[in-house]
Amino acid sequence: MNAVLEPRRQSDHAGDHVLVADKLARYYSVKRSMFSQGTVKALNGVSFALDRGKTLAVVGESGCGKSTLARQLTMIEKPSAGRLLIDGEDVAGADHAKIAALRRRVQMVFQNPFASLNPRKTVEQTLSEPLAINTQLSTTERAERIAQMMRTVGLRPEHAKRYPHMFSGGQRQRVAIARAMILDPQIVVADEPVSALDVSIQAQILNLFMDLQEQFKTSYVFISHNLSVVEHIADDVMVMYFGGVAELGDKKRIFSNPRHPYTRALMSATPSIFEADRTIKIKLQGEMPSPLNPPSGCTFHQRCPYAIDRCRSEEPKLREVDGRQVSCHRAEEVGDMDA
Ligand SMILES: Nc1ncnc2c1ncn2[C@@H]1O[C@H](COP(=O)(O)OP(=O)(O)OP(=O)(O)O)[C@@H](O)[C@H]1O
Ligand SMILES: [Mg+2]
Repeated sequence: MNAVLEPRRQSDHAGDHVLVADKLARYYSVKRSMFSQGTVKALNGVSFALDRGKTLAVVGESGCGKSTLARQLTMIEKPSAGRLLIDGEDVAGADHAKIAALRRRVQMVFQNPFASLNPRKTVEQTLSEPLAINTQLSTTERAERIAQMMRTVGLRPEHAKRYPHMFSGGQRQRVAIARAMILDPQIVVADEPVSALDVSIQAQILNLFMDLQEQFKTSYVFISHNLSVVEHIADDVMVMYFGGVAELGDKKRIFSNPRHPYTRALMSATPSIFEADRTIKIKLQGEMPSPLNPPSGCTFHQRCPYAIDRCRSEEPKLREVDGRQVSCHRAEEVGDMDA
């Protein structure tokens, strides 16, 4: 696929990290009432590194900040605080031209291809646009490249003149994936890319993501609330809660012995992947607190069966325990208590 594109620039100084988020935060100003404004800390200091050709899965309940994170990583929005490095380049220090170049390297796939694809454009037009803007390819070369990409994502090139509504849901998501991949990006941020699809189609699309990664060495940030999906696709997992990181690390390590009570609760709700012989299962009680009224101490303490006084008053820092990062005062005990 690279034959007709310029070779991908990869600078050595970034090491194996193609993307680094350093205390990334995004706040929104919202109306509390007629007379007062409040601040929602949708993303509240998230740090992680994404390795080349690897998949970081981001999980967590609705409203925990996953899509907000995606918008910062894809430079759709500017973070309120923190740093974003793409291939070693600090996005904050980049000028317009540089930002445009960085944006090409980070593409996004959304949950609903019906909404994300322009209904008035054929597949050919949708895929041709980024090539026309970003490459020197001739019309014939573009057509070749589009046909090639359509085959790569499992679509028939003779359907290039079709409009989105003429495809099935799974095929439409393939078009969206083709659009994301056509410039050979280094990073794809996928926000719940299979959750709107029929269960029978989900596995096919997940396998497509994995095949493309193997072929093009693309790095993925893969957002999903479905732990079975995460288990299938992730190398690393980041569990988010209330705008922050609850637990972050190697998938196998986290899945085999989660150290944050919230991770444990999420996994208890997916018995197929959490070994059945665990005696204590945590049931998630209550709801996430209001972002306009954040709790003191640990943001999870009101729902946590392990909470002690310290959790109510002192915010836990993200720290390394048992080979992963975890923000829980009792992480050492949590993992061993019911293992
Ligand atoms: N533009 C905005 N203005 C005000 N608040 C916002 C804005 N965008 C997001 N939020 C708030 O930030 C928090 C995180 O939202 P976000 O959409 O990132 O969650 P999410 O994890 O993607 O949820 P879901 O799983 O439902 O997609 C929520 O409380 C949301 O209401
Ligand atoms: Mg979302």
